[in-house]
Amino acid sequence: TEAWRPDDDGRRGAAGPVRVRVPAKVNLHLGVGPLRRDGYHELNTVYHAISIHDELTARRGDTLALTMEGEGAGELALDDSNLVIRAAHALAGYAGVMPHARLHLRKQIPLAGGLAGGSADAAAALVACDALWGTGLSRDELAGIAADLGSDVPFLIHGGTALGTGRGEAVSPVLARPSSWHWVVAIADGGLSTPAAYRELDRLRDAGTAGVPLGSTDALLAALRQRDPRVLAATLGNDLQDAALAMRPALADTLKAGEAAGALAGIVSGSGPTCVFLAADASDAERIAGELDTAGVCRQARTAHGPVAGARIV
Ligand code: C5P
Repeated sequence: TEAWRPDDDGRRGAAGPVRVRVPAKVNLHLGVGPLRRDGYHELNTVYHAISIHDELTARRGDTLALTMEGEGAGELALDDSNLVIRAAHALAGYAGVMPHARLHLRKQIPLAGGLAGGSADAAAALVACDALWGTGLSRDELAGIAADLGSDVPFLIHGGTALGTGRGEAVSPVLARPSSWHWVVAIADGGLSTPAAYRELDRLRDAGTAGVPLGSTDALLAALRQRDPRVLAATLGNDLQDAALAMRPALADTLKAGEAAGALAGIVSGSGPTCVFLAADASDAERIAGELDTAGVCRQARTAHGPVAGARIV
């Protein structure tokens, strides 16, 4: 990495490119409370950052421009509607600088997958532009800007494992050993709309056909403090899962196939359609991923571990 120094014309910030890596997230517990008057649901969630990463490179430029490669290239708009561009504008506005940068995104996190890929990219843009422009904000200041961009964005600044409350934007870290847990991530064909999943849950609840809401996060938090994945497996849960299954019934086959392959537990990640499975160890995760690929119940099965760090300069 290059030193941060004023460049030839004395501007603050980094003269050379700034590269930021940002993880995907899963919700180990996603408790969805009532619909609020602002259109969001009150959440009680435990976020967990896993080792599937996007990478954002920021370079000096005379305008703000975004290019991308990898997952979703050609499908995702690169204009002002893109969360990366919105993040750059939000930071520039807050810090009182011109929003000039050439941004390049390398995506591995699928679009609309329930892994917070768009939120991750917004978090990466905040961290990258803060370094590029030399605005020097604290992580808490960045998380404050992040909250206006999306409910999951503050968590992706912090990473690790964390409790999320409010609409998910209020995060407090949960102490956990890095890379303690091994996961299999079954990526589906096509995405699911997060607002549609929340609406479907409301509909199921109004009709009295939704499952019993998850209780407190106490059992999960206790399970995270010990080392046995079997104990953790019994505490995973997602109130949005019934909604995702109603919208995409085939996900039931994916969950069944993972459990038949020896996963300790499987849940839909966030609003889906990605399913995540807890494995006993790294080699078991490899084996389960292989079986899921062979079974043809997902587009791609990948292994990952967690927790990992949030958006970081590399
Ligand atoms: O915060 P974010 O923009 O990522 O949320 C996307 C959508 O998901 C919201 O517009 C809302 O429909 C739904 N949502 C919700 N309750 C939350 C978070 C998100 O209903 N706590």
